[in-house]
Amino acid sequence: MKTRMTDLFGCRYPIQCGGMLWIAKPSLAAAISNAGALGNLTSGNYNSADELRTAIDETRQLTRAPFIVNITTMPSIRLPVELLQDFFRVCCEKEVTALEIAGAPVDRFLGPEFIPMAKEAGVKVLHKVGTVKHAVHAQKVGYDAVTIAGFEEGGFPHKDNVSTLVLVPRVVSEVDIPVLAAGGMANGRSLAAALSLGADGIMMATRFLATRESEVHPNIHKVLVDKKEYDTSLNLQSLLSAFGLQVRALSNTIMKQVADVEHAGGDLTDLLPLISGERAKAVWKEGNAEEAMLTIGQSVGLVEDIPTVGELMERMIAEARESLDLARGLLSENEGAWQQKSSA
Ligand SMILES: Cc1cc2nc3c(=O)[nH]c(=O)nc-3n(C[C@H](O)[C@H](O)[C@H](O)COP(=O)(O)O)c2cc1C
Repeated sequence: MKTRMTDLFGCRYPIQCGGMLWIAKPSLAAAISNAGALGNLTSGNYNSADELRTAIDETRQLTRAPFIVNITTMPSIRLPVELLQDFFRVCCEKEVTALEIAGAPVDRFLGPEFIPMAKEAGVKVLHKVGTVKHAVHAQKVGYDAVTIAGFEEGGFPHKDNVSTLVLVPRVVSEVDIPVLAAGGMANGRSLAAALSLGADGIMMATRFLATRESEVHPNIHKVLVDKKEYDTSLNLQSLLSAFGLQVRALSNTIMKQVADVEHAGGDLTDLLPLISGERAKAVWKEGNAEEAMLTIGQSVGLVEDIPTVGELMERMIAEARESLDLARGLLSENEGAWQQKSSA
């Protein structure tokens, strides 16, 4: 499983964990990296540059394998631009393997000096995008790789509502840098499909949330196993479509209330108490999945158990190989049968 992604980041398998606020912390990041994929340390978990510095050191004590740091470049009261700029500088100072930028492009949101700063430090920069246009921009301004996320993804999909199946081959034919596929990725068959579409690897988040090493309440793990592909919905268009975004979250009591407030013409002040990150933070710990906006992808329908990250990786790689062999076998069988038939 050597691809341009494994070459770029130095990981064993072409699988990356996506940023996960309150979840992607040193222990999970290290478990994923130790299992051969690319673990994620999400900077939004921290309130200062020093806290992020400590978290990077902590992750390095748990793994010698590479991991990626997520910086979510969206307007936020808790994480102002100056703090995001400090996070970026810390990652360069610490020479982390790579940065996953999600949201506005670094050159526009943080400043034109930041991508050259990463290049100078030897830090690879990947941008998670939701459209072909944004992938092309990322390549133009010097990013090393892009993740293209279809609207199946949990979190903040683009408002265009285009699926991963269509976006991946579109982006692959428009850029030359490595491309990761995200949204709907959860098992070895997803990986095989993404590679067949021309991607260099995959990114997934919900599937890593459903592992034994993710530190959430056992009820949350049970919910992830029980919920199906139709149990998430797209929300908050009234607030986010100006930024080209929306939120995919688990359908639950809070999201019904959010929809009611939106329909009644409520604004951010009305919505904030329902959608606050602090609410989600409490739910991950306490386990009542009805009580917060939980950014879960349609891939939840593919979650059937809570394995260790190591078990998940081994299973996925074996299944991907099997799926690719099966497809190759089917194609050559068909070709042989067709030739026999046409020459008879
Ligand atoms: C619990 C959770 C928290 C997330 N938090 C963030 C975040 O802080 N920043 C970000 O860029 N994406 C975040 N995402 C989105 C993921 O990084 C990723 O784009 C998406 O979940 C992929 O779809 P999947 O979950 O179906 O694999 C989060 C996803 C989940 C499941």
